[in-house]
Parts: sequence; C-alpha cells; structure tokens
Amino acid sequence: MNLQVSLWLFSLFIVQPTRGQFKPAQPCDPDKCLPPNCRCSEDRRPPGGLTPDKTPQIIMVTFDDDYEKEYFDLYNELFDELHNPNNCPAVGTLFVCHNYTDYFLVETAYSRGYEISDHTVTHQEPTTYWENADYTEWKNEIDGQKEILHRFANVPYDKIVGFRAPYLMFTENMFKALNTSKFGKFTYDLSWPSNIIFDGKGPIYPYTLDYLSSQNCPSEEEPCPKLSYPGLWEVPNVNLMNKDHSTCGSMMDACDPDGNATVWLEILTRNFHYHYDTNRAPFGMHMHPSFFLRPPTTDHMKAAKQFLKYALDLGDVWILTPSQIIAWMKDPQDVDKAKTFAPWQCPSRPKPRCTEATSNNCHYTEPQDFYMRTCTECPPHFPSPTDPDGN
Ligand SMILES: *[C@@H]1O[C@H](CO)[C@@H](O)[C@H](O)[C@H]1NC(C)=O
Ligand SMILES: *[C@@H]1O[C@H](CO)[C@@H](O)[C@H](O)[C@H]1NC(C)=O
Ligand SMILES: *[C@@H]1O[C@H](CO)[C@@H](O)[C@H](O)[C@H]1NC(C)=O
Repeated sequence: MNLQVSLWLFSLFIVQPTRGQFKPAQPCDPDKCLPPNCRCSEDRRPPGGLTPDKTPQIIMVTFDDDYEKEYFDLYNELFDELHNPNNCPAVGTLFVCHNYTDYFLVETAYSRGYEISDHTVTHQEPTTYWENADYTEWKNEIDGQKEILHRFANVPYDKIVGFRAPYLMFTENMFKALNTSKFGKFTYDLSWPSNIIFDGKGPIYPYTLDYLSSQNCPSEEEPCPKLSYPGLWEVPNVNLMNKDHSTCGSMMDACDPDGNATVWLEILTRNFHYHYDTNRAPFGMHMHPSFFLRPPTTDHMKAAKQFLKYALDLGDVWILTPSQIIAWMKDPQDVDKAKTFAPWQCPSRPKPRCTEATSNNCHYTEPQDFYMRTCTECPPHFPSPTDPDGN
C-alpha cells in the first residue's frame, strides 16, 4: 500500500467519524446517563430504586411476520380470559411484515389493544440482504411498513414505535434508519438477543443507546452499533436458556421444537423464574405463530396458556407490550401503584372502520399473486418499500 492510499484510509477512519453528526458512542457514564430518558446497559437493578419484591414482573408476548386469519384465531385462544392485576385484558405485540398480511385483522387487533410494530415491508431472504443493506434500503423498508400499517390498517403513526429486524439481523444502518425515521424517531428496537449471565444479578433490563452498549454481540456478521442514538431504547431479546445455562433459543420456536406440553411448560416456567427470582427484568415470549401449529398439535398452545395462567396467579405479574414497558422504565411504579398507572390502563381504541363483510379483498398478480384485505380502497399496485401507498 502506498503512502497516499494509507493516508487516505487513515483519514477515512479517523476524520470521518469525528466530523459532524456521527460521533462514536462512549462508555456509559451513570452520572450523566440519567432517568427518565437515559439508562446504561450495565445497570441490572430494577428502575427507580425499587427492590425486586416490589417490582411488577412483566411478561411480553410478541409474534413475528405476516398476520392472517389463522393466527388471529390462535392469539385469541392464547389470551382468552387472561387479565392483568388491573383487570385489563392481556394482549400481545405484533411485529408485522407485509406479504400476505390481512390489514383488516391488523386494524381489529389494534382496536383490541394489541401493540402493532414494524418488521419491514419485504422480510426478504437471504439474511445477508439485511446484513449488507444500506441506509436507504433500511429506511425504505422501515418507513415503508410504517406507512403501510397506517394507511391500510389505520394505526396512527405515533403508535407504531417499535421495530424488530428480520432474522434479528440488526445493523448500524438499521439503527440509523430508526433514529431518523421520517415519522420521528422510533421508541425501541427488539432485535438484539442476549444470554442470561448467571451471576445472581438477573437478566439485562431495557436500556437506551445514548452510550456504548455492553450487551454481547451475537456474531461477526452482527457488529454491535458503535454510534450514539440518544433516547432510542433497546429492549433486549433475552434468550431462553437450558438447564445447564447454555442457550436454548432467541425465539420460543427454536427451543426444543419437538417437545410436548410437559417439556414446554417446564422451559417457560424455569426461564420465567430466572427473571422473577432475581431482578424481575421483563420476560419475553417471542415466537412465530407457526409455533402453535407444530406437532404434537395443540401441545404448544396448552403449555403457553398454562404458563401464563400460572404466572398471572402469582398476583404481581403483568402481560404488557414493549411501549408499556418503556413508559414504566421512565416512570417506575411499585406493585401496588402499578394498578393505577395510566400507561397500563386498558387503552381506548377506535373500532375497525369496516367489518369482515364490508372489507375489501384486494388481489394482485404483480410482482406475484397476492391478496390484501383492508377497510380502505384497494390501491392500484401491491405496496412495496419504494411505493408504500401502492400508487
Ligand atoms: C440520532 O438522532 C439524533 C437527533 O435526534 C442525532 O443528534 C444523532 O446524531 C443521530 N445519531 C445517528 C448515529 O444517526
Ligand atoms: C415479499 O414479496 C416481495 C415482492 O414479491 C418479495 O421480493 C419478497 O421476497 C417477499 N418476501 C418473502 C419473505 O417472501
Ligand atoms: C413428554 O416428553 C418427555 C421427554 O421426552 C417424556 O418424558 C414425557 O413422557 C412426554 N409426555 C407425554 C405426555 O407424552
């Protein structure tokens, strides 16, 4: 390498990051990173100085990918009759991508209190597409899906505040796109898997990306963000762990897939207690709906229902969505005060604008055969990242 090239490279690496907007994130300084809008990743204590026994244990139940009738029925079955300590019905969070999604059902789920989050437009294969996607590609995929969810399911822009990367393949460009969305900064990302460190301090709590994260980077292909994203929350995807403390899976589907209801109830209960018996960091049940359809049929549903009922019966356990978790991280309440905490009350949401009978079932043959149900008019084209309105 000649001198000029090495000087040029040197300038790229040294000069570029310090020029203007993109300063590398610094190690977290707990004296500077203060609530409500900043939290260090290293801090594994409950927020607001709460002791674990006074901390509400949160469970978040999240589902990925497209949303269709079959899945709608499964989620109804899962949450049937489940209520939080303030009597509000338990609901889940849907990370929705576009192909095959029924937006009439998204609108219906939203009206029932579900949190609707962004999971890109195409969710395309292979995973390396996302690894290599540039800022503009991420931005079109992320802002595009937000636009689609708003336009075709009537979810307000400011209620779509969370994101999960396809295949959990998060990158720096992805965080940049979340940080600079044209609809305003996202509130949280939920793409970053994390093993539990069994040192007695408990699993990692949600934190902000103002400072350098101490969360482990999953692999070479997933370099952790090096820049600072003030006020953007990372809700760690805490992995399910095996009895010997090795990793079981980031999503429930991956963890002992051939198990039966007994095996599954044990996995869920044991992992829940890794949270409940230590620092009460939020416990995630992250899955694809196909998890419930895997043989032995009905066993996965049975185990999940039994587990949730068991947990709610403890009396200080709540089933909430990530944005409700962040509202509480910013304004922590103990187990008693939680019952009247405004962000945890049953949300009042508009009814869907149409019924199944009056919805439109739009049909497209380009770029391939797609149906898309919505309460709005069918757009002339199937929506895409660069044409989310389908015009
Ligand atoms: C994130 O957005 C803030 C403005 O809200 C900006 O100051 C900061 O530079 C952005 N960071 C990156 C890495 O884009
Ligand atoms: C969704 O559809 C688009 C357009 O046909 C395609 O490029 C993309 O790969 C599809 N995604 C999946 C996950 O099949
Ligand atoms: C469930 O699987 C476990 C482990 O393979 C086995 O020991 C148990 O007998 C099974 N239970 C039922 C009801 O099939």
